[in-house]
Amino acid sequence: MRTIGVLTSGGDAPGMNAAIRAVVRYGIYNDINVLGIKKGYRGLIDNDMEKMDLSSVADIIHRGGTTLGTARCEKFMTKEGFNEALETIKYRDIDGLVVIGGDGSFRGAKELSEAGVKTIGIPGTIDNDLAYTEYTIGFSTALETILDAVTKIRDTSSSHERTIIIEVMGRNCGDLALYSGLAGGAEMVLIPEAKIDIENIAEKITSGMARGKKHSIILLAEGAGDAYDIRDKINKFIDIPIRCTVLGYIQRGGTPVSYDRLLGSRMGAQAVKCLIEGNNNVVLGTKDGKIFHMDIEKALNMKKKFDSEAFELTKILSI
Ligand code: F6P
Repeated sequence: MRTIGVLTSGGDAPGMNAAIRAVVRYGIYNDINVLGIKKGYRGLIDNDMEKMDLSSVADIIHRGGTTLGTARCEKFMTKEGFNEALETIKYRDIDGLVVIGGDGSFRGAKELSEAGVKTIGIPGTIDNDLAYTEYTIGFSTALETILDAVTKIRDTSSSHERTIIIEVMGRNCGDLALYSGLAGGAEMVLIPEAKIDIENIAEKITSGMARGKKHSIILLAEGAGDAYDIRDKINKFIDIPIRCTVLGYIQRGGTPVSYDRLLGSRMGAQAVKCLIEGNNNVVLGTKDGKIFHMDIEKALNMKKKFDSEAFELTKILSI
């Protein structure tokens, strides 16, 4: 390994900068040239990259977002774009590539690895929707951000004795809603992994009000429906004012919590180590506090297990 490239792709996630920093510094420590590729796969197509040195990654470990920039690059999905990316990799003498991103980014990494490029994937997405790993970089920070919002919304909901639906991100995965719901003491959690019964939701709100509950907080995953639409459906059963808050992009920003910085730092170093040791075409994951690597294709074919225990517990604790 003489030269490696690092890129961040897809939705940004807090902790990506810690991973970039670790790739760069661990690479330089091992006498490897590290190229920082700009705006995800777009930078590979456009040959937009720069040689990183120790100070290129100074003062970024605590910053949200990604200093390399990111994109969801449609052109990379075309034959033409993909070939242009391959040309750049050859032209730049890139021996190995570290891709920090989520599911879509890993599919791109898999294509590249099939074309002979040695790739390593680092899971970076707030969604925590990758089946093979317990945690992705950014999930813990997003969870804290949501929890902070839930705590604030709880104050005003109690004061007004209101029902509120809080819609959170996560694409097709309910983890952000489920764990913020459990940790935030929500009355209900609506996620794509479990069937939604509107009549039952209405009944729960009514019985809660009857026993003197001051509010009903409903955590809704974006993949399970639209907050306003669900409000209207509930209102067909009970005529009470229901407010909606869609948290949106606030969930993706902010200073990474310690866990995401640690995960980013460890995985960044591990990615370079994998390339040096010849463990190519793998993605990194975490299990029981340890970092492991797994074949990229195998990882992408796994189906995420639903944490039904956490879901049931949320229900029990909100009776
Ligand atoms: O994958 C991260 C994520 O924030 C999802 O939770 C969300 O559905 C999506 O990205 C939003 O994507 P965009 O930034 O393209 O609007």
